Amino acid sequence: MAAIMSGGMWASVVLAGPSDDKLVIDEQIEMTTRTAAPEGHPLDEVISGWHYRTPETRALETDTFQNPGMLAVEEGAQIWETVEGTEGKSCATCHGDASESMAGVGANYPKWDEDSGKPINIELQINKCRVENMGAEPYKFDKDGQKPLTAFIKHQSLGQPVALDLSQGDMQTWWDKGKDLYYRRTGQLNLSCATCHEDYNGYRIRADHLSQGNANGFPTYRLKQGALVSIHNRFRGCIRDTRAEYPAAFSDDLMALEVYVTWRGSGLSVETPAVRQ
Ligand code: HEC
Ligand code: HEC
Repeated sequence: MAAIMSGGMWASVVLAGPSDDKLVIDEQIEMTTRTAAPEGHPLDEVISGWHYRTPETRALETDTFQNPGMLAVEEGAQIWETVEGTEGKSCATCHGDASESMAGVGANYPKWDEDSGKPINIELQINKCRVENMGAEPYKFDKDGQKPLTAFIKHQSLGQPVALDLSQGDMQTWWDKGKDLYYRRTGQLNLSCATCHEDYNGYRIRADHLSQGNANGFPTYRLKQGALVSIHNRFRGCIRDTRAEYPAAFSDDLMALEVYVTWRGSGLSVETPAVRQ
C-alpha cells in the first residue's frame, strides 16, 4: 500500500468488493462470471470485470438490444458477407454461416500459429485470411473492419468458457514471458499489472473500481469512449497509465501478455461485447 500511495497517484483508496449479481443475457444465457481459478493462478477465484461496474453499466450487458456494442457486432456481420480483394471472396464464401462455423472458436484464442511460429489472436487470424485467402490488404491496428469483425467472431462464443490450449507449439514459453511482463514493475510510477489487478483488485481509485483485468469481454464497449476497445489498446492504455513506454500492438510483448492475461480468465464466459465504463 505504501509504495502505491507514495506514487502520489491516488488521493484515496477504498476497498469495495465486487457485486454479487448474476449475469444472464436476454433472460436465457447464464454467464459464468465467477469461477474457481485454474491451477497455478495466484488468486482463488476468477471474477469478470462485469462485477466491478455500476448497476447501470451492468444492466446494459444483460440485454443484447440495449448493449451499445452490438451495433459494431452487426457491422461485423455485414463485413463477414462482403466480397473484398483480388480473389473475389468474402469470409462467408469459405466459412458460411458464422453462427455455426465460428461457434466456440473465439473462446480458444490466442492459438498457436505454425506458419509464423507464434501465438495468433483473432485480429491476426482475420488478417491472415484476408491476405492469404482473399487477396486483400491486412487491416491496420484498430482500423477499418478489425474491431467489428473481431467482435462479431468472438460474439459467436457468447457464454462459452475461455479455454486456452497451452500444449500447442511453444504456447507455454509465451505464457511464461507474459507472466514475467505481468509482474514486472515499469514506468515512472513503478507499477506492474499485478499491482493494480492482483494486489488492488476490489479497490476504488479515483472514479474507477479496479477489477482483476480479465480479457473475456474483448473487444469491449467503453462508455467513456463510446466505442469498442480492442485488447491491445486496453493493454497500451494501462501501460501508459504507469507512465511507461508502451509496446506496439501485436508486438511479441503484447501477444505474450494476451496469452497470459487471457489464461488468467480461464473458465469465465466470453462476454463480447462486454460493456465497461
Ligand atoms: C478462401 C477461403 C477462406 C476465406 C475467404 C477466409 N478464410 Fe478464414 N480460414 C480459411 C482456412 C483454410 C482456415 C484454416 C483452416 C481452418 O481452421 O478452418 C481459416 C481459418 C479461419 C479462422 C480460424 C478458425 C479456427 O478454428 O481457429 C478464422 C477465425 C477465420 N478463418 C476467419 C476468417 C474471416 C474473418 C474471413 C474474412 C475476412 C476469412 N476467414 C476468410 C479459409 C478462408
Ligand atoms: C495504475 C493501475 C493499473 C495498472 C498498473 C494496470 N491497469 Fe489494467 N486497468 C486499470 C483500470 C483502472 C482499469 C479499468 C477498471 C478495471 O476493470 O479494473 C483497467 C482495466 C484493464 C482491463 C479490462 C478489464 C475488463 O474487464 O474489461 C484489462 C484486460 C487490463 N486492465 C489489463 C492490464 C494489464 C495487462 C496491465 C499490465 C500491462 C495492466 N492492466 C496494468 C488500471 C491498471
